Amino acid sequence: MKLILLGAPGAGKGTQAEVICNKLSIPAVSTGNIIREALKNGTEMGLKAKSYMDEGKLVPDDVVIGIIQERLQKEDCKNGFILDGFPRTIPQAEALDAMGVEIDRVVSIEVADEKIVERMSGRRVCGKCGASYHMLYKQPSNEGVCDACGGELIRRKDDAPETVEDRLRVYHEQTEPLKDYYAKSGKLRTVQGQEEVADTTRLTLAALED
Ligand code: AP5
Repeated sequence: MKLILLGAPGAGKGTQAEVICNKLSIPAVSTGNIIREALKNGTEMGLKAKSYMDEGKLVPDDVVIGIIQERLQKEDCKNGFILDGFPRTIPQAEALDAMGVEIDRVVSIEVADEKIVERMSGRRVCGKCGASYHMLYKQPSNEGVCDACGGELIRRKDDAPETVEDRLRVYHEQTEPLKDYYAKSGKLRTVQGQEEVADTTRLTLAALED
């Protein structure tokens, strides 16, 4: 299964990718996580991406296309993968096609903008391992501490309310047109993001089968 998860920032792509990749035994490939890791390690690519990310803008296409090209060649992707956060523009989707990658299904998780703002304001991530939590919907056992590694939970810089507005604008302008792009090839399914993570997982898995 080669699956793309589409959706606004905070729609729950990363949350669903984490659950579904375990169920299907394929890796989840998140360009956002790869860039954040590069940033943490102080690589040239990470430093180049930082200003775009902090401002809620998209990192230039050539940078993310290069990241994906390299990642999909790794051994663990040979039986399939879930793309979370890529493609995000039409040129990125065209680049994926040009690489000869045959996508099986594209699932767009639909969540209203007002709900997104609420979700992002409550999101906290582990500064050490990157695990994601929510102050209301996915609380850690001990406040402010990561269940997985004991790291400190922090707010992502790009989750500041004014940056979230910019990210939503960028999503509607540059990423949402991908729904038409994939609808034309019959690969698109849309799923309404539910209050319960498990309900969205059920709908997403059903969308892979029809
Ligand atoms: P990236 O890290 O990909 O961010 P994003 O797409 O904006 O998505 P998020 O990670 O913010 O949200 P998500 O949909 O994964 O939601 P989550 O599951 O965490 O990208 C960051 C930046 O990197 C971009 O702005 C850009 O600069 C750059 N970048 C990355 N890829 C790029 C590309 N291809 N091209 C150019 N630039 C690129 O959920 C959010 C919160 O809600 C969590 O707290 C979660 O616990 C909670 N939640 C999830 N589901 C539910 C539910 N059903 N009910 C209640 N709460 C829920």
